[in-house]
Parts: sequence; C-alpha cells; structure tokens
Amino acid sequence: MLTQRPRGTNDILPGDASRWRAVESVIHRTAARYGYGEVRTPLFEHTELFQRGVGDDTDIVEKEMYTFLDRGRRSLTLRPEGTAAVVRAYLEGGLAAGSQPVKLYYVSSPMFRYDRPQAGRYRQFHQAGVEVFGTAEPSADAEVIALAVDIFAALGLRGLEVRLNSLGCPACRAAYRDRLRDYFRPRLDQACEDCRRRFDRNPLRLLDCKVDRALAAGAPAMTEHLCDDCTRHFRAVQSYLRALGVRCAIDPGIVRGLDYYTRTVFEVVHPGLGAQSSLCGGGRYDGLVEALGGPPTSAVGFAIGMERLLLALEAEGVTLPKPAGPDVFVAAAGEATRGEAMALTARLRREGLSAETDLCGRSLKAQMKHAGRLGAAFAVVVGEEELARGAVVLRDMARGEQENVEIDRLAERIAAGRVAAGGASDGEERPEA
Ligand code: HAM
Repeated sequence: MLTQRPRGTNDILPGDASRWRAVESVIHRTAARYGYGEVRTPLFEHTELFQRGVGDDTDIVEKEMYTFLDRGRRSLTLRPEGTAAVVRAYLEGGLAAGSQPVKLYYVSSPMFRYDRPQAGRYRQFHQAGVEVFGTAEPSADAEVIALAVDIFAALGLRGLEVRLNSLGCPACRAAYRDRLRDYFRPRLDQACEDCRRRFDRNPLRLLDCKVDRALAAGAPAMTEHLCDDCTRHFRAVQSYLRALGVRCAIDPGIVRGLDYYTRTVFEVVHPGLGAQSSLCGGGRYDGLVEALGGPPTSAVGFAIGMERLLLALEAEGVTLPKPAGPDVFVAAAGEATRGEAMALTARLRREGLSAETDLCGRSLKAQMKHAGRLGAAFAVVVGEEELARGAVVLRDMARGEQENVEIDRLAERIAAGRVAAGGASDGEERPEA
C-alpha cells in the first residue's frame, strides 16, 4: 500500500519528465506565436462551479468528480476540466472588462476524474488547452483548431484526423432535440440504462453512447437542422479552415460529454490509440460565461490530453529530445581534494555550466566510470599537485584526450568544447543522436 500509487495515477520520473518538457516547450512556443497568455488556476474549486459549468447531467458531474468537504464544511471539487475554472478566473481577474478577445492557454494542468482506468484514461491526468473569450466570429473557431493542429504538426505527429460538428444554438437545438426524441422513442427498449434516463432531459447524449453505437447511427444529424445563423457560422468555420490548410471531416457523432457547447464542436483523434483515441476536444461555448455570472460573452477553446499525446508520439515512433548529460563531472583524485572538487563544481555552476560531482565517496576510478554513465561531456580531475599550480586535469570524454587547464580558464575552455561539439549547457536538451 505504502509503495503503491493510487489507481489511475502516474509518476513522471526523470526519464519521462524530459519527454514531457520537450512537449510542453513546443506548446509554450506555439501558444506564444499565436499571442496567447498563460493562465494557472487552483487544483480545486467550489463544487458548484463544475455543477453549473459542466452540467448536472454529464458523466463528469454525475459520477466522476472528486468532491469533498473541507474543514470549514465547504464543498470543494478537484477540477475535472479546465474551462469552467478559466472562465471563473477570467471573470474574477477582471479580464472581461479589458479589450477583447482575451486569449489564454494552460499546459500540463492536472485534472481529476473518477473513471475506470485503462491505457490513455487515468484518474489524474494532464491537459494543455486554450480558451478565447470575447468573440463570436467563426475566424476564432478556425484559429483555435489550427492552433491545436499546429501543436501536433510541430511535434511531428501524423495520421491525425480533425472531426468537426455543429451543435447549433439554444433555439435550433431545441427543435433538433424534439426530432431526436421522435427518432429514439420507438427504439428506447434497445438503449442502455444511462440513455433511457437521459432521453427526456438531454437526448443529444444518446448520440455518443459508448455502450451501443449502432442505435445512434441512423439518427438525424444536427447539421441538417441548424438555423440560418448557425448554418452560416458552420460554413464560415469550414471555409476559414480551408484557407488555413486544415483538413477536417464533418462528423455528426461528435456531441462532446460536457453541456456548455454551442455551435462548433471538434475532436482530434489518433487512430493508433485504440479506445481512447481522442487526443483533443473542444468547441464554442457562447453561454457559459453568462451562466457562471458574467456578462454575455462568446468563447471557444480546446484541451489536449497530455498523456494521450505522449502515447501517440510513442505509437508513431517520434523521438523527443533526450536530456543532455552534464557539461562536466568534477572528480576528486583523493580524499584530500574532495572539498576543492565540491567548491570547483559550485564555481562552474555559477559560471553557467551544468556540473556534477561525486556524492557517494567513490574512488577516482569509480568516479570516472560514473561520469561516463551520466553522459558528461568533460571530466575534471582535481589532484593536489595540479591544484598547487592553480590547474586541474581536463578530460574530453568522447575523444579520450587529456590536458592540464588553469582553473581560471576552465569554464571558458569547457564551454568552447561544448559549442564545437554542438552540445548544450545549463540543462538544455539536445536531440537524440
Ligand atoms: P474533454 O473532451 O473532456 O474536454 O477532455 C479533453 C481531452 O482530455 C480529451 O480529448 C483527452 O485527450 C483528455 N482526457 C479526458 N479525460 C481523460 C482521462 N480520464 N485520462 C486521460 N486523458 C483524458 C474538456 O475537458 C474541455 N474542457 C475542453 C475544452 C476547452 N472545451 C473548450 N475549451
């Protein structure tokens, strides 16, 4: 028990953390190129935010939230998704009062859902996402979708499919709901228990029933029942996407598991991921800001599942930069110079190099072996004799060449060697050879 993590959670150990960092830095860079500002919100929020935001009838609110009473007997919930929380921050932070649109993004934000864990589905997982507030224009929908596609392309992922649908506005959706009820009513005895329960309040959910997909296959499509304004919006989104060179397929089965969506909804799927193939989901939510107590404000966004993204990269064999070894390992020739070796390591770090030294009391031979295991580009041997002359022995690990170098010129000499070898310093990462 003590040595086992809770079901559905993962440790990210150093070997994996470098892959995460490589993906995160692509997302930061792409978001910056598009002019998005980073937002970080608390891990927990008042439960009501998600009940009202995500919707009482959704799987998330009905059965997946980690909800608890704190010591002040307030009901709090570990956030199951980011959008409602970002809307809250947008309102509370006064961003609604400034110039619009407000374009926000988040990276590797932990989310919590009590679901049955399997490959690609966890109880704690991480999302990167964007939320754009203050524009109802279809160009914003297209930009957001293009941004998601750009992130995947920058990482070298291929074989992705963008699936697009429109859920209309409250007006045309009400009429569509009636059509759906007419379709499902005579077939209800074949539907699963959840679907039968949702039939009256939210028949759209029957379209993405995970239990029986055949039932929904013959249902009328929302895109055939959009009002004129929603039709125009949907066509404009597609035409902007064409202009941006983003290919997508219209899929009337995309209804999304959260209640706040209006008009555009989309998912990016990776067929290599099996049952959990949805890498990214999002859409427009023009009513949510108002429903959470703000002024009427249109908005659109998406979230990418970080774990699934890393799984997809693995499935496609995309190699991400590996962490570089230290620039230099400082070895002590004997007990007498251990203190000097530590002081020299500290100095080299201050001078901007990544430097390590022995913390395990190893012999000189074992220290050199360890330097090799760490992938150090250089090793320095601090010996009493050289030290007396203000020098140390510097070894180029790849070439196996050694020379005496003055301590005052050491950092400069190592940095020059790193540049010549095309390596990195100061914790930067270099692509795998
Ligand atoms: P979502 O579809 O619930 O949407 O989640 C987005 C992505 O998070 C999914 O496509 C998937 O990659 C990942 N994901 C979801 N649940 C899990 C899980 N249990 N384990 C691992 N990965 C998971 C949202 O959360 C919306 N807030 C997206 C959004 C932003 N819509 C507008 N703005």
